[in-house]
Amino acid sequence: MINLKNYIIALTAMACGTLCCAAKPIAVTSPDGSVSLEFDTKDGVPYYSVKRNGKSILNDSRLGMKLKDAPDFAEDFSVKSTERDSHSETWQPVWGEESSIDNNYNELRVSLQQKKLAPGRNLAVVFRVFNDGIGFRYEFPRQQSLQDFVIMDELTEFAFNECPVTWNIPAEGYRFYEALFRKLPLDSMGKVSTPVTMRCADGTHMALHEANLTDYAAMNLQATPGSNMLKAELTPWQSGEKVFVTDVRVSPWRTLIIADNAGDMALSRIMLNLNEPCAIENAEEFCVPQRYLGVWWCYHMKTATWEAGDRHGATTDNVKRYMDFAARNNFGGVLVEGWNYDWATWDFSFTRPYEDFDIAELNRYGREKGVALIGHHETGGRIANYERQMEDGMKLYADNGMNYVKTGYVGDMLDDKELHSSQFGVRHYRKVIETAAHHRLAIDNHEPVMPTGLQRTYPNLMTQEGVRGQEWDAWCPEGGNPPSHTVTLPFTRGLAGPMDFTPVTFRFENPVMPQTHVNTTLAKQLALFVILYSPLQMASDEIENYEANPGPFKFVCDCPTDWDRTVFPEAEIGRYITTARKEKGGDSWFVGSATGDEARTASINLSFLDPGCTYRATIYRDGENANYDTDPYPVLIEQKDVTSDTVLSIPQGRSGGCAIKLTKLAAK
Ligand code: NOJ
Repeated sequence: MINLKNYIIALTAMACGTLCCAAKPIAVTSPDGSVSLEFDTKDGVPYYSVKRNGKSILNDSRLGMKLKDAPDFAEDFSVKSTERDSHSETWQPVWGEESSIDNNYNELRVSLQQKKLAPGRNLAVVFRVFNDGIGFRYEFPRQQSLQDFVIMDELTEFAFNECPVTWNIPAEGYRFYEALFRKLPLDSMGKVSTPVTMRCADGTHMALHEANLTDYAAMNLQATPGSNMLKAELTPWQSGEKVFVTDVRVSPWRTLIIADNAGDMALSRIMLNLNEPCAIENAEEFCVPQRYLGVWWCYHMKTATWEAGDRHGATTDNVKRYMDFAARNNFGGVLVEGWNYDWATWDFSFTRPYEDFDIAELNRYGREKGVALIGHHETGGRIANYERQMEDGMKLYADNGMNYVKTGYVGDMLDDKELHSSQFGVRHYRKVIETAAHHRLAIDNHEPVMPTGLQRTYPNLMTQEGVRGQEWDAWCPEGGNPPSHTVTLPFTRGLAGPMDFTPVTFRFENPVMPQTHVNTTLAKQLALFVILYSPLQMASDEIENYEANPGPFKFVCDCPTDWDRTVFPEAEIGRYITTARKEKGGDSWFVGSATGDEARTASINLSFLDPGCTYRATIYRDGENANYDTDPYPVLIEQKDVTSDTVLSIPQGRSGGCAIKLTKLAAK
């Protein structure tokens, strides 16, 4: 029998415990109430946790920082104060996958104070909870006991409630994020870059990344076998420090998207919403979305050379030939690599053209034809050399009326010592964006740090590489990109922003490396123009190969690169995808649909079309028996009238696909 006295004591303790605990965590929920976050300190250590629809997503996950030569921001905290805010707006990006973006969240700002270790020292954590996930960041108030300081380690944890399957790339051993995404359980990932994409047992899709990476190091994540917890690992400087905190007193936002399916995850705009509004006046004047061609694939196919000589690609005459073709086919720009001294030594001048390249004449010619000359600054990763010349190099372009520059950082380390994703790299890339903005130049940045949504603030950062692109189909000795790669990217690297993947190769045999070729059908190449989002979208092949295939090429010439709306009628990561986009300011829709390794019949529900209207569908699809590995070339082009009630059933081969233009005709 229970002793009455003990029973009363136990009851009192339980009630007290419940009351104490219930009073302690500080909660904030999303505007629709589906996502909730709790903050708490336990023995002075700050933690947060996240639930969706009452189900745990993140269990208690630690927050904090290890500092250099100062007590850590890791324990001994108590909550000094909290502030709450709610935000609801709709904003219009200069360009994008949609023309307006909702930004609705509830915010909780927790001010923490240390007691004994560093008496009175303050740290704040700001949480924003959206209907489709969360973001949070650290604030480091400048204070007597904390002026400039050095972060040696960020202690942020993400303690998942289960071990989801993930798609990730390793953080080390690959250059510039040009790796294939691996499908692995969370606890066996090792150390990975972000974004990391996850799928839970119940089909919930999630993605961990960061937003607004400013004067900080990029975040990687470390997994531990047998544990569902990931820990932040910042990219270090060569000297081992992670971040020198001076004027910028906030960390980037750590972001977690939580969605019902892959399509909804890819439509989350948390990353963009956690960046600052546009800082460039009248950016739309020069940050203009374009289809572009390039004196480019010829280098990778070795039919021309970057260096001057008999087979020099960047001659005035050859560029004019590309400009003529661009003008005839409705392309807005031509990229020219190999125009400057000295590709023979990679000791680059950004102001001295080769003698057979006339920059002023080409700009004059391009303007006459309505085709922009897109410049190129390959730095070889030599930052000091570039920063010495950057102002003059960009001025040369601006003085010639140019609006675009492709930048590049081929080289294992920047200045032979720092990683691209270190704070050193982050600082340099920002300097380039700001200098370019000053000269009204838009950027296509290759070998970048992983994008984090800065294009909201700087729309001149129009596209970036940081992806294993089509060029791997030219020279990767292990063979080209596998069929699943391009139907994985929209849900992995694509979550970080536009990709300069450079699709639309039309000739798949590779004279340089016969074992390496494009592992898709030709119809899938067309589909990729829609599927792989980039406002500066390249058709990468040599123009002769387009001239030989005018029928399929027509789709590319018609397809815009700026959109009012994007939807995903069907998708499964790595297996298949259908993306539909409505052209900005117009009535037409463009659809790209593709498979991975397996042939399948796509079932494309056109319910996104305006009800009560008829559309003329021009369909470019795999010809009969077209498969990437047997017969990749046949494309069937057919037309039919459709409405929002139509469900198109379209057979697609292995690594096949279809591209569809839907032109609005009239009300039914
Ligand atoms: C690598 C880039 O990805 C590619 O586009 C460029 O042609 C070469 N570097 C040379 O700059």
